[in-house]
Amino acid sequence: MGRMNLKKKIEALKKDKNAVILAHYYQIPEIQEIADYVGDSLGLSQRAAETDADIIVFAGVHFMAETAKILNPSKKVLLPDLDAGCSLAESCPPDAFEAFVKSHPNHTVVTYVNCSAKVKALTDIVCTSSNALKIVESIPEDQPIIFAPDRNLGKYIMQKTGRDMLLWDGSCLVHEAFSMEKLLALHREYPDCKIIAHPESEEHILKTATYIGSTAGMIEYVKSHPKGKFIVATEAGILHKMQEEVPTAELIPAPAKEDNTCACSECAFMKMNTLQKLYDCLLNESPQIDVTKDIQEKALVPIERMLELSK
Ligand code: 13P
Ligand code: SF4
Repeated sequence: MGRMNLKKKIEALKKDKNAVILAHYYQIPEIQEIADYVGDSLGLSQRAAETDADIIVFAGVHFMAETAKILNPSKKVLLPDLDAGCSLAESCPPDAFEAFVKSHPNHTVVTYVNCSAKVKALTDIVCTSSNALKIVESIPEDQPIIFAPDRNLGKYIMQKTGRDMLLWDGSCLVHEAFSMEKLLALHREYPDCKIIAHPESEEHILKTATYIGSTAGMIEYVKSHPKGKFIVATEAGILHKMQEEVPTAELIPAPAKEDNTCACSECAFMKMNTLQKLYDCLLNESPQIDVTKDIQEKALVPIERMLELSK
């Protein structure tokens, strides 16, 4: 089926079934273009919490669709490819995390949304990269904190707040794929470019950045410098929306290490979703996300706390 045809068929099915398509900035351009909403992890969970659609098609990765399901247990939540996982979520197996939490009683458990429903069920409050600072600052200063699973975001928040946190040793492969050497060489070649980075990136990369923030934050920053030139250190899919929002900005994706599959850094999980898979999943209402009632009820509490604090 041709692409145009596929887009039209998706539109028609969406109307017929009262479905909404939510897409992350890292999705392929064709999916971003057909989505009802494109956003960062926080924006996507806020939209999922508000929607009155009967079906949510989540064009993102598994933990994002799972979060939408936790917020909407009675709705159908579809993910075009169930194998669209996340290296960061995988770096925090629920059993090991449960043992870790148990061995550190009296700690407030803050988890980054990039984790499984089971890990969220062990959490006091969830955060995303756009509200992590605010969430941690909302916790009394003398209260010890466990922060999981991203050690890079955790370290960054520790530096920003000056407080100590017990970090889980997880990370995102995509944000650890940037080459410092190539980034500095590129910056020498384009000295008037500003480096902007996502806080899942490693400390040495963050040190070179003039702006650090979530995907939505990075887009806002570029919007406030419409004639700016930027080297963008996050998943390269963001460049589509960024360029669309700010056509006058000059954008260069940050370079990845030699052994990476592409010159910039792309998330293979995010790229598993295609227009064809999106159409098929909406047509067949499958694959669906399932979360057991027990886990859903436990995981909802820390997500709702986050949403309440992010209003
Ligand atoms: P944000 O959408 O919160 O910026 O996070 C980026 C990311 O890695 C999502 O998986
Ligand atoms: Fe997970 Fe990293 Fe991909 Fe985001 S970019 S979904 S954190 S592997």
